Amino acid sequence: MTPDKKTIFSGVQPSGNLTLGNYLGALRNFCRLQDEYNCYYCVVDMHTLTVRQNPEELRERSYALLALYLACGLDPDKNVLFLQSHVHSHAELSWVLGCYTYMGELSRMTQFKDKSQRHADNINAGLFTYPVLMAADILLYKSDLVPIGADQKQHLELARNIAERFNAVYGDTFVVPEPFIPGNGARIMSLQEPDKKMSKSDTNVNNFVLITDPRDVIIKKFKKAVTDSGAEIRYDENEKPGISNLINIYASVKDVTRQDVEKEFEGGRYGDFKKAVGESVADTLAPIQERYAEFISDKTYLESILRRNAEKASEKAESTVREVYEKVGFILK
Ligand code: TRP
Repeated sequence: MTPDKKTIFSGVQPSGNLTLGNYLGALRNFCRLQDEYNCYYCVVDMHTLTVRQNPEELRERSYALLALYLACGLDPDKNVLFLQSHVHSHAELSWVLGCYTYMGELSRMTQFKDKSQRHADNINAGLFTYPVLMAADILLYKSDLVPIGADQKQHLELARNIAERFNAVYGDTFVVPEPFIPGNGARIMSLQEPDKKMSKSDTNVNNFVLITDPRDVIIKKFKKAVTDSGAEIRYDENEKPGISNLINIYASVKDVTRQDVEKEFEGGRYGDFKKAVGESVADTLAPIQERYAEFISDKTYLESILRRNAEKASEKAESTVREVYEKVGFILK
């Protein structure tokens, strides 16, 4: 790790197949940051247990997510790509931080309220303390910046509060992290219900495009995407949420502005536009899919990366835990 660079930490849960939204909103940005920052990109497998998982599937998805990180262009020698459960410090710091977090704070988390409604049969304590584990992830590495989607802002705000509270009692220990919310492409919406975020856990498969969807499936899903009444290809989130989402996707994939898209398709028809969006997405994902297929078929290689990177991550994480243990009054071994 280069000392004069700032540190970035982000995590993705291996709880489903990743979508185009995850790619444009997260993974692609991770790649753009890898030269300028010291980056820790974690497969946060421990977080997934808050919802019941099938063990074999969880293992497979964890490999798959690492393979996707690599396929998207993350260099395993430049970034620390690792599995959360491989570094025991996450669980350790999480316990300590939990004692500096209030029940009231955790009760206010909108994701907790949301998830406890959706999984009413399994409102477990982990679901409640989930943001504390997330705070531990971030604070362990003294991270300066955390790339996150808008839905994680509240959790990051909590991590900042915990860090400040701890620092106030024990003196400067944690770096208080800043959110890093990328501009264009950060919020890709559902193709059928464009007022909802595109989500990998959606039950209707036509709502999302997976990074690994075959070309014909991608084109078909865009063909079926809901548009709006009227015929103009014009950006207007309120009046035309469907078309606006497609404009965002096309602009993001082509790396152009919304105005450029409006100009390119001025006077055009919805059908042709949807076809063009589908094709551009398929073209963008094709090389990633090819590399993904290679990586996922080589578990030995993936395991070697995990082993090497877990060591790198542990070094930093363990030194933070020692510092914390000493400050709170534990006898160091
Ligand atoms: N909670 C995040 C999500 O569901 C995943 C996550 C866990 C995370 N730990 C993190 C993201 C630390 C950023 C930093 O999307």
